[in-house]
Amino acid sequence: MKHFLDVTDYSQQELMKIIETAMDMKKSGWKETLKGKILSMFFFNPSLRTRLSFIAAMDKLGGLAVDLSSGSGGFPFEFEENVVMDKSTIEHVKEAIPVVSRISDAVAVRASELVTTAPKSVEVSSWNEAKKDTVITSFTKYAKVPVINMESNVFHPCQGLGDAMTIMEKFSNPKSKKYVLTWAYHPKALPMATANSQFMSACDLGMDVTVAYPEAWDLDAGVIEKAKARAKLAGGSLKLVHSQQNAFKDADIICAKSWGAIKHYGDWDKETKAKEGLRHWIVDKEKMGLTNNAFFMHCLPVRRNVEVTDEVLDSPSSIVIDQAENRMWIQMAILDYLIGENNG
Ligand code: CP
Repeated sequence: MKHFLDVTDYSQQELMKIIETAMDMKKSGWKETLKGKILSMFFFNPSLRTRLSFIAAMDKLGGLAVDLSSGSGGFPFEFEENVVMDKSTIEHVKEAIPVVSRISDAVAVRASELVTTAPKSVEVSSWNEAKKDTVITSFTKYAKVPVINMESNVFHPCQGLGDAMTIMEKFSNPKSKKYVLTWAYHPKALPMATANSQFMSACDLGMDVTVAYPEAWDLDAGVIEKAKARAKLAGGSLKLVHSQQNAFKDADIICAKSWGAIKHYGDWDKETKAKEGLRHWIVDKEKMGLTNNAFFMHCLPVRRNVEVTDEVLDSPSSIVIDQAENRMWIQMAILDYLIGENNG
């Protein structure tokens, strides 16, 4: 049994096999390899694309996706060990997940503290606490079936791999193409998970990867270290810069994503103040003009004219809808790989 928590748990060859399966399914059709199989999904945060694409993926492969999220009638879970459950939590994951495992063939979890519909960023203690990914870690501890990460605090591997498929569709050999992940201004502090998985996947493709962000918005050092090693293994490179203009020069892909500053986790008022003056970190036509006719990518949802201008988002270079559609195809391939008739 193998979980799908992060792409770095897989070899680059295994990931390429999953991407090729997804592309083949999209181009030539697919078999119902998940007949009678059930995916139980738990969303602790809002979602449009991930929820819909997993439901569609299971349906297309002949299986069933069940949404057991708390807001959809499920019980609020307890995750702490040795706790007196006399407050709002009703069921401990210690019973819930073994029960779910008896009836399901896989479990999918979204637990990313900063994904919220609230007008302000939610309170979090510190990055060191958030990066423990307590919720998904508890699921894996008690699950007897594969657990799929639908976005945790640290990684969003389905987004990363879906993006890799989209890049492969545009450049059949993306090696040595210049991929730029640029931080973008956003009024709220957003999770790092998507950014981490996006540039990790570009590294796995052997691209020349540049991550551009304002000073103080450093990504997790451990993730950077892993990405550098994987870039080298794939014959690519990883560079971190603080100038958006320099980064955009001769780029083949521009991917925009905002994330919260690690040093301000637990104090977003300070981050909001520190962000004043960074509104110019937006993707616009002028900056796209510095690139090698780059494609524009964004995981969605996107704040128009905050992260990227209408002009860029509505232009032919924007491939954000392909990206979102490919979430379904890549998840079909991931599910087939994990629990399909001929899995592994
Ligand atoms: N990109 C992404 O994961 O979208 P949702 O948050 O809508 O699932």
